[in-house]
Amino acid sequence: MDITIQPRFSYYSLIKSLFSTNNQISTTDYLLNTGRASLFTLLNHKLKNAESIETVLLPELICDDVSEVITKLRIPISYYPLNEQLDPDVDFIANNIPDNHSILLVPNYFGSASNWKDILDLKNYHNITIVEDNAHSLFGDYNDQSFGTIGDISFNSLRKILPTLGGSILKFNDKQPEDIKKSERLPNMHELKVSLASLKPLLFKKYPSALKSLDSSMSSVNSMDVFSKQIYNKISRETICSIRKENYKFWQQYLKNVDIEPIKLREPSCPYVYPCYARNFSEVEKFIEWGKINNITIINIFPDQVFNKKDFIILKKYYAFNIVEKVEIDKNITYQLIK
Ligand SMILES: Cc1ncc(COP(=O)(O)O)c(C=O)c1O
Repeated sequence: MDITIQPRFSYYSLIKSLFSTNNQISTTDYLLNTGRASLFTLLNHKLKNAESIETVLLPELICDDVSEVITKLRIPISYYPLNEQLDPDVDFIANNIPDNHSILLVPNYFGSASNWKDILDLKNYHNITIVEDNAHSLFGDYNDQSFGTIGDISFNSLRKILPTLGGSILKFNDKQPEDIKKSERLPNMHELKVSLASLKPLLFKKYPSALKSLDSSMSSVNSMDVFSKQIYNKISRETICSIRKENYKFWQQYLKNVDIEPIKLREPSCPYVYPCYARNFSEVEKFIEWGKINNITIINIFPDQVFNKKDFIILKKYYAFNIVEKVEIDKNITYQLIK
């Protein structure tokens, strides 16, 4: 079976949601289909409201999808470095922010909070809008403040954590926009195919990627489908987080005696994956191979780009253990294979 890093869509979760009394969605949330769509929408909103944006500051470690959106809107990009804990280098940012209005994008990597106190302090001296990127971090908090409410604007990416088809919540914490329309839609043909593949995996050699449905991220039809909305709104946050935490702890324990270098992040309350630094390419290859034998997806994240952006970036590459699969691997893995 080909297992994906993200949970598959689940009709079970959809049906279960019909009997739940949870209500995650607030009236001020904008419901879009991807993190990219949220980023596109918020930048477009800023541009339309006559706020010229001098630059968008991105961390050196970010997937290309993000820069694609910004380039499409013809906004200049600059990059800032991170430390070993993946915290932004605020001194570097303070010294390099242009005087005119800029946007600073800060991810809470892998479900862990960033160094928010120092980041928010930047606002006292600089003309910036801080975008909190929770693409890896659906549920969590920083000093009792929920993820999504820390930056001036925030967005997430539901399908990475939940068994949805897609979805992203865009929140404006500073000033509510008046020009963004809210809309709903049924799943499109491709999304229906993805949902059916989850029911009949044997009919589909490979579980179809949700990617096709993401093409519309940068168009006007980029709202969340109603299946994903229903699952997100009604899901039990506690259940999801406790399973993920348990799986994260499993990896922590399991890899204790293995010679690897985990990325030391702040304790995540709803982890995305278990990330490790790669010391060399053969180490990554070894783990990917080991994962194939044991039916575990080991992802080699951001493979080449980390070294390309600017001269000052010498951040190590890294890989991550999928924590959604822990249940399957529990009985099978052996230490010998890792050595
Ligand atoms: C840090 C970060 N931000 C944003 C995104 C874009 O999210 P989406 O795939 O929902 O468009 C990603 C995608 O992986 C990401 O890793």
